[in-house]
Amino acid sequence: MDDNKTVFLENVSKTYQMGEIEVKALKEVDLTITKGKFVVVLGPSGSGKTTMLNCIGGIDSPTSGTIIVGGNDISKLTEKELTKFRRNTVGFIFQFFNLIPTLTARENVDFALDLVPKETRGSAVEVLKQVGLGDRANHFPSQLSGGEQQRVAVARALAKRPPVVLCDEPTGELDFDTGIMILRLMRDVSRQEHCNFLVVTHNAAIARMADTVVRLHSGEISSVETNENPEDPENLVW
Ligand SMILES: Nc1ncnc2c1ncn2[C@@H]1O[C@H](COP(=O)(O)OP(=O)(O)OP(=O)(O)O)[C@@H](O)[C@H]1O
Ligand SMILES: [Mg+2]
Repeated sequence: MDDNKTVFLENVSKTYQMGEIEVKALKEVDLTITKGKFVVVLGPSGSGKTTMLNCIGGIDSPTSGTIIVGGNDISKLTEKELTKFRRNTVGFIFQFFNLIPTLTARENVDFALDLVPKETRGSAVEVLKQVGLGDRANHFPSQLSGGEQQRVAVARALAKRPPVVLCDEPTGELDFDTGIMILRLMRDVSRQEHCNFLVVTHNAAIARMADTVVRLHSGEISSVETNENPEDPENLVW
C-alpha cells in the first residue's frame, strides 16, 4: 500500500435492507485520495455522500469492497481496533456540531483528547487559539454562537491531529460569512498539517476551493476533478 494514498476505496458497495426493499446507497465505488488534499464531495440528496463518509470513518461498514484509511484496512480490524481507529485516525465534524452541552469549549476538546495517545495530541487551549477561540475556552456551547460552536467542533477534531478529517455539511447551519470562515480555517489547517479533509456539501460553490471534487450520483461516482488553482474561500459567492 502506497503510504501517500491516505484514503483508498475499491469496489465499495453498501446496500441497506429495508424489509423486502434493498436500497443500494453505494455501488462499486472506487476512489483514491492522496495525502494533504482538500476534497469536496458533491451530490444530490440521497446520492450516498453520508454513507460514503461514514464507511470511510468506520461508523458504518460497506456490504462489500475494500476501504483503506491511513494504512488501515478497515474491514480487517477487530471491534477494539476499529474503536482505536475512530479515535486516532479520523476526526469528525458534523452539521449540528455535536458538542457536549454540559462541558465548556475547552472540556469538549479535552474530552476528545483524553482518548488519544499523549504524543500525538495538541493542547486544547492551543487548538482553540488556532481556531480563534482562545478567549472563549471557558464558555459552554449555549454561550457560543453557531459559528463559534462549529469552530469548537473543528478544534475538537483537529486537536487529535488525525490524518483524515471527515466533515458532513459543516457549514449547513451557518450564515454565509461564518461558513466562509470555517471553510478557510479547514483549508488552512489542511495545508499546515498535511491532513486530508473530505467535506460533504450540497453547495457547488464550495467545490471551487477544493483540490479535488468528487461527484456522487445515485450511489456512483460520476466524476473526480482536480482543481489546478483552488479559489480562496473569500472569493466564493453562493
Ligand atoms: N440506515 C439506513 N437504512 C436504510 N436506508 C438508508 C440508511 N441510511 C441511508 N439510507 C439510504 O441510502 C441512500 C443514501 O443516503 P445518504 O444518507 O448517504 O445520502 P446523502 O447523499 O448523504 O443525502 P443528503 O444530502 O440528503 O444528506 C438514500 O436513499 C437513503 O435513503
Ligand atoms: Mg447526508
